[in-house]
Amino acid sequence: MAHQALEALIFKHKGVYFMKDMATPEVIDSIEHMEVRESDVFLVTYPKSGTIWTQQILSLILNEGHRNGTENIDNIERAPWIEYNIRNADFSSRPSPRLFSTHMPYYLMPRDLRFKMGKVIYVFRNPKDAMVSFYHFYQMYSKLSYPVDFETFADVYMSGKVIGGSWFDHVRGWYTHKEDFNILFLTYEEMKKDLRSVVLKICKFVDIKLDEKAIDIVLERATFNKMKYDPHANYSFLPKDLLDQSRGNFLRKGTIGDWKNMMTVAQNEKLNQIYKEKLGDLPIKFFWDI
Ligand code: A3P
Repeated sequence: MAHQALEALIFKHKGVYFMKDMATPEVIDSIEHMEVRESDVFLVTYPKSGTIWTQQILSLILNEGHRNGTENIDNIERAPWIEYNIRNADFSSRPSPRLFSTHMPYYLMPRDLRFKMGKVIYVFRNPKDAMVSFYHFYQMYSKLSYPVDFETFADVYMSGKVIGGSWFDHVRGWYTHKEDFNILFLTYEEMKKDLRSVVLKICKFVDIKLDEKAIDIVLERATFNKMKYDPHANYSFLPKDLLDQSRGNFLRKGTIGDWKNMMTVAQNEKLNQIYKEKLGDLPIKFFWDI
């Protein structure tokens, strides 16, 4: 029953799951033909992997420390979702450099990206912390009329029937097709451990030079505490009928290793097994705890 409640929130299109009532197959299909500019940056993540954090960092970098007042614009407008364009942003009239966000698999992305037009930044987080974060997200998800227990959620997550589909397929797909894109891979864990180095990496990738002062501003405005209370960065602006933040916060804990507080030994073993089967052959290294 609880499994069905979770599955009722999503629809499947071309092998992956999307939020019901938030996207349509037509919109998703149209993205393939979206015109990409050389300076465009597409932030791609599996859900709960540090998307809004990276949106904040990227928008700070692209707007040089928000010198031009972009701090007063909601994140969702600074970095609109291409598949969930809930504020109906007109992509074509946006000034360059444009920043977009998406949870889509590589094969549904704008075709121009395959011709190395534009840039992709892919951020991934270890699947255990992403799962725990996702579980808490679903507690706030207003379309879910009653809370779902962690056991059920873990089961559904590991079977991939959640928004964004399977973590394992998402990461595998992007990682094994990285040569097709102009892409920078980052992990949530390296951002936690050394954000300055990550910011420098991003600046190099997007070809923007920031002075030390501007870099300090980026670092200062992207801290967990700063973002948690910044109404333009913490996603509190989402409508209550979508996300009921009286039931939790988008910026919840922001740590590495919280999975240890939630997962049972059996769940951990099951996830490790799936990881081995689906990604064991890839040289991806994670920090699973601190
Ligand atoms: P937790 O639920 O583990 O706290 P997404 O934006 O992809 O939905 O990811 C949300 C996760 O990123 C949440 O994880 C959130 O707390 C974390 N996060 C957001 N901003 C952060 C920041 N500035 N520093 C560290 N973690 C952050």
